[in-house]
Amino acid sequence: MSALPKVGVVGGGQMGSGIAEVFLRAGCPVHVVEHDPACALDAEARIRRSLDRAVGRRKIDEPTRDAAVARLTSSADLGDLADRGLVVEAVVEDEAAKTEIFATLDKVVEDPSAILASNTSSIPIMRLAIATDRAEHVLGMHFFNPAPVLDLVEIVPSLLTSTAARDRAESLVTDVLGKQVVRATDRAGFVVNALLVPYLLSAIRMVESGTATAHDVDTGMRVGCAHPMGPLELADLIGLDTVRAIAESLYSEFAEPQYAPPPLLSRMTDARLLGRKTGRGFHDYS
Ligand code: CAA
Repeated sequence: MSALPKVGVVGGGQMGSGIAEVFLRAGCPVHVVEHDPACALDAEARIRRSLDRAVGRRKIDEPTRDAAVARLTSSADLGDLADRGLVVEAVVEDEAAKTEIFATLDKVVEDPSAILASNTSSIPIMRLAIATDRAEHVLGMHFFNPAPVLDLVEIVPSLLTSTAARDRAESLVTDVLGKQVVRATDRAGFVVNALLVPYLLSAIRMVESGTATAHDVDTGMRVGCAHPMGPLELADLIGLDTVRAIAESLYSEFAEPQYAPPPLLSRMTDARLLGRKTGRGFHDYS
């Protein structure tokens, strides 16, 4: 069994909060860093609400929730991650933002063998690794939304990641989190998004071309193929800005038309119709 590391999570949005909750529930102390103190408190509140819901659904008992909450701290200062053994970056899919964070983590995290991981879905891990002087300890640790529910983590070593760091990350995921690992090479989209995103984009093109309504496309895949969600509901859950950013990374890596963001997706993200998080995407959540 791997020892429980002190964990840092950078970014307390949908994915960052979910990842923080997963580590808290596994018994790890977790410090979440957001870009300002108000967002850090929002992230803490989001995690506490989710833990309360887990109590309500009898997944965990109250003492377990209280112990998890007691292990949670937050701030707006990456310097507070100095003593962490694992940091998972989960900010927006923006290469410049992520690169800057990795360069700072390289300076502030004191343990030279700490693992610096990114939850990126599509940005090459190598670009983040070379922003540091410890590329052998940088890797992709990609969770799926909702992170507390979905039991898969893609582990993505770059060409420079050491076997020891990769193995340590994999045993953390399996032994500490009790989740399953799929190992992927460092190509945009890894395994799951390289398959999933062209499917989501095809569904958007189907609505764009008037083949069927969003409702009927979703019903088709939910009822006809027993998927838990239709592709447009899923795109709304992921966030249309994130879907667009992943599609752009895939397109820039492979230059294949299947990955090109459809104009409708670009118009919707320009209009901030981003799905659940803004109340409207392909469906209305207001
Ligand atoms: N946090 C914690 N738990 C949650 C949750 C959340 N945000 N959302 C749902 N749950 C839990 C509920 O508590 C419930 O647990 P129990 O049944 O044990 O009580 C369970 O999940 C089912 O929830 P609901 O009954 O509310 O709703 P549902 O049955 O419709 O399931 C769903 C909701 C889990 C989201 C399900 O529809 C699903 O799995 N959808 C597919 C999600 C998916 O494909 N995600 C991958 C996205 S791709 C990605 O993340 C990669 C990327 O880089 C873009």
